[in-house]
Amino acid sequence: MKPARFELEQMHLSPQDASPQDASVPWWRHALIYQIYPLSFQDSDGDGKGDLPGIAARLDHLSWLGVDAVWLGPVHPSPMKDFGYDIEDFTGIDPVFGTLVDFERLLALLHARGIRLILDFVPNHTSDRHPWFQASRASRSDARRDWYVWADPAPDGGPPNNWLSRFGGSAWAWDEATGQYYYHAFLKEQPDLNWRNPDVRAAMCEVMRTWLRRGVDGFRIDAAAVLAEDRYLRNDPPNPEADKAPPPERYKRVYTNYRPEVLDWLAELRQAVEPFGDRVLLGEVDTSGDRIADFYGSAERPILHLPLNYGLLDAPWEADGVRRMLEDYLELVLAQGWPNWVIGGHDKKRMHDLRGPEHLRVVAMMLLTLPGTSILYAGEEIGMRGAHVEQPHDPFELLVPGWGLDRDPQRSPMQWDATANAGFTRGQPWLPAAEGFEHCNVAAQREDAGSLLTLYRELIRLRRSDAALREGAFEHPFAAGTVLGYTRRHRNRCLLVLLNLGGTRQMVRRPDGCRANVLLATTQAPQHAAALDGTVPCEAHQGLIITLA
Ligand code: NOJ
Ligand code: MG
Repeated sequence: MKPARFELEQMHLSPQDASPQDASVPWWRHALIYQIYPLSFQDSDGDGKGDLPGIAARLDHLSWLGVDAVWLGPVHPSPMKDFGYDIEDFTGIDPVFGTLVDFERLLALLHARGIRLILDFVPNHTSDRHPWFQASRASRSDARRDWYVWADPAPDGGPPNNWLSRFGGSAWAWDEATGQYYYHAFLKEQPDLNWRNPDVRAAMCEVMRTWLRRGVDGFRIDAAAVLAEDRYLRNDPPNPEADKAPPPERYKRVYTNYRPEVLDWLAELRQAVEPFGDRVLLGEVDTSGDRIADFYGSAERPILHLPLNYGLLDAPWEADGVRRMLEDYLELVLAQGWPNWVIGGHDKKRMHDLRGPEHLRVVAMMLLTLPGTSILYAGEEIGMRGAHVEQPHDPFELLVPGWGLDRDPQRSPMQWDATANAGFTRGQPWLPAAEGFEHCNVAAQREDAGSLLTLYRELIRLRRSDAALREGAFEHPFAAGTVLGYTRRHRNRCLLVLLNLGGTRQMVRRPDGCRANVLLATTQAPQHAAALDGTVPCEAHQGLIITLA
């Protein structure tokens, strides 16, 4: 096979900042952020549901792995219709998870280990049991009426317009007592707050301040692109692709998504956070087209530090497709702010199931060698698969069945060891552990030098200690056959990363006139540590980090 060659002049995308020794570099830029879904991480009291003391008991794992910050899913009082994303008290803790004292203890324990805490923040909606909504629906003249989005029926008595809930059906729910409809982007038990009302915005900023005073290090803003609805309640246009899309996508969400007001309101949230110093705002944003860049804002009007980027989950999984995604995203984002990369999530299929188990080691190397902040969902570091859940719990699956939207599989218990329920609970777990946990678990992989977990740990350590990986320019992305390659360069140190996304060995020609050594390989590399000749063999599904000198 003719070795593929890559051109050296392609691009030079450089994170513009200073070195980490420079105290002005924010901590989150080189962080590994670890997402914990609280119900599923560790149960401490035997009720089968994860809780705060459970997380506190598992901090060794985080330190051992090299986690810099935890992003914790919502832990506030909730009827759990959407498993915590339906909140009835933004500043409290649901008894399922523990108490505020448990929270403060967890925060102190994390901080003592040098690990930060980022809290999920759900500004778009509340639970229908929130006292604000209870007041709002009590009467049309209540002071809180305008805190939610109310509208009169259409002339035929039906919903005011054709807007659809993201979880299926009309986005309007009828309120018999007051004779109006209220709007809900998600479940009808999750009425949308009316962000046009400045009192709502002030109240939500105050919620953030409460948690900031308690010491949290930032927030992940839920459904950040969804805060505004068209004030004229115009109908959404039909989706030309409707026949291929699940029912909630029958119309294009023009009037309830990414409205112009959204960025202004998010900028207000940023302003509330700014006086607290080095805190970080992540956000679930609109990633279509070029929109992700808008969520960074500008120097005059900063918005989010890290609009979450799911490119590694969404890109077509072949070398040139990923290369194109990397170039497009980095070109867009490096002009505005700092990149980030997410692997997995409580709404996202497990990487094991999305890409296949043979790809997981290359995914790990990609995550930790690309420029920017890395965000990892708990369980991805051991390559967990999604669980098979017989009786759906996820409201999305219950309301829109048969479209593969089910989020239960990725919410199954964290797999700690081979004991009953994977060491997650001594009770009955709220979701079953995924098949195969007897082999795929933290305890087993910690002992195994060849495990995915060990690889993650090595990569995390390498990235921490290697300036080229941490802050080097990202150069020369190329696809050669099934191999994706790029370099990271810092001063005179240059690393070549080769990632074989395919199932056959590839020969890649490296630049002439330099010596090359394999620094780290995802699987045993034949020439490990020995100088490589002009062509580098890259085995099936193998990733290599090579120093060029
Ligand atoms: C996004 C969250 O990640 C998801 O789990 C939730 O169902 C919706 N927002 C509504 O809050
Ligand atoms: Mg519990």
